[in-house]
Amino acid sequence: MKILLGIGGGIAAYKAAELARLLMERGHEVQAIMTAGAQEFVRPLTFAALTGRKVLTDLFAIESAIEHISVAQEHDLLVVAPATADLIAKLAHGLADDFLSTLYLAFRGPVVVAPAMNVNMWEHPATQKNVETLRQRGHRIAGPGEGYLACGMTGAGRLVDPEAIANAIARETERRRDLEGETVLITAGPTQEPLDPVRYISNRSSGKMGYALAEAAAARGAQVTLISGPVHLAPPRGVKVISVRTAVEMRDQVFANLGAAGIVIKSAAVADFHLARVPDQKVKKTAARMSVEFDPTPDILFELGRKKGDRLLIGFAAETQNLQQEARRKMESKNCDMVVGNLVGGSESGFESDENEVVLVLCTGETIPVPRSSKREIAERIFDEVLKLRLALHAAHGR
Ligand code: PMT
Repeated sequence: MKILLGIGGGIAAYKAAELARLLMERGHEVQAIMTAGAQEFVRPLTFAALTGRKVLTDLFAIESAIEHISVAQEHDLLVVAPATADLIAKLAHGLADDFLSTLYLAFRGPVVVAPAMNVNMWEHPATQKNVETLRQRGHRIAGPGEGYLACGMTGAGRLVDPEAIANAIARETERRRDLEGETVLITAGPTQEPLDPVRYISNRSSGKMGYALAEAAAARGAQVTLISGPVHLAPPRGVKVISVRTAVEMRDQVFANLGAAGIVIKSAAVADFHLARVPDQKVKKTAARMSVEFDPTPDILFELGRKKGDRLLIGFAAETQNLQQEARRKMESKNCDMVVGNLVGGSESGFESDENEVVLVLCTGETIPVPRSSKREIAERIFDEVLKLRLALHAAHGR
């Protein structure tokens, strides 16, 4: 692999030399890029000698006028180690004022970030928010480790061992393009069911879980169609997004786009009931109390279960209690291959939040708890398990 090693300006910069050596030893080509701060701690010559390549340092050198673009295009992975608080903030906010931060914006591949800083700086809400932004973007955060820090304090903030960073890179590359050639259909967000021309009923789904799945699948090389209810999220890069409003519209678009999909994931929070006939005019307040009769919406997942053929069908189950049992019941009754059980109702996971905690219930009988982490990390884990499940089903039934 061709790896870009971005070195930030911290005392741990010297450990990046060991990382460069280790990556070379593992057979990778390494291109070092140093910030001005990094060059205060270690001379570029060290990295030039270790990698056998000129170190990139200056955005404004004549020969680097557009080099950050071509360098970004020619490499497979970017690792930033050590990533200082300043560098993390720049990456999170897209500031581009030197070679490394400019190259970062031009780079399309996987990114591993290894933070190193003082414990108070690490724990500061601004840094934590920036790290979360990078995590949500799908970057792998390696560390930091805990222990004695160069500033004399003890706590989280140490650059993790070069070996651990190299292993994080290895894990990142393994899953990198493992969905190449796959077509994935994902639903996300809520549906809105009109009560009259100006009112509707809906639910708290933000779409974040489904969009994270779409981003992960696209990053791993899949062709992705995302059928989305009304949300306030930017369309994921490289994903075909079809916007719908109601359960009926979602159903129609799911079956219109099912075609080549080999993996179907229903993470949308589809309304279970709607008004079969919506009044043409705004309902007037004519009485102190009113009651409305709802009809069931089409159960898209159930219908998919009957028509899935060789596809892998993954449903979600949003539950406030008996998570595992309910997830398994839904998996069986809707003929899914996996159901992602999602405890909802709390403030820390499920609806709206950036994080989630789920249990994967598989048709093989396996149950896999996935601890609280960002929705993007949960999405990556779901695809890891989907691919393993496909292999297991192939082996068992030739499916
Ligand atoms: O969008 P976020 O804010 O990120 O929140 C994520 C989430 C909580 C919405 C998501 O993780 C989740 O749990 N999605 C499923 C929500 C849901 O509707 O669960 P359910 O148990 O009611 O439905 C079970 C399954 O049937 C789901 O796959 C659902 O998409 C599907 N369904 C439900 C009703 C219906 N009419 N048609 C369906 O296909």
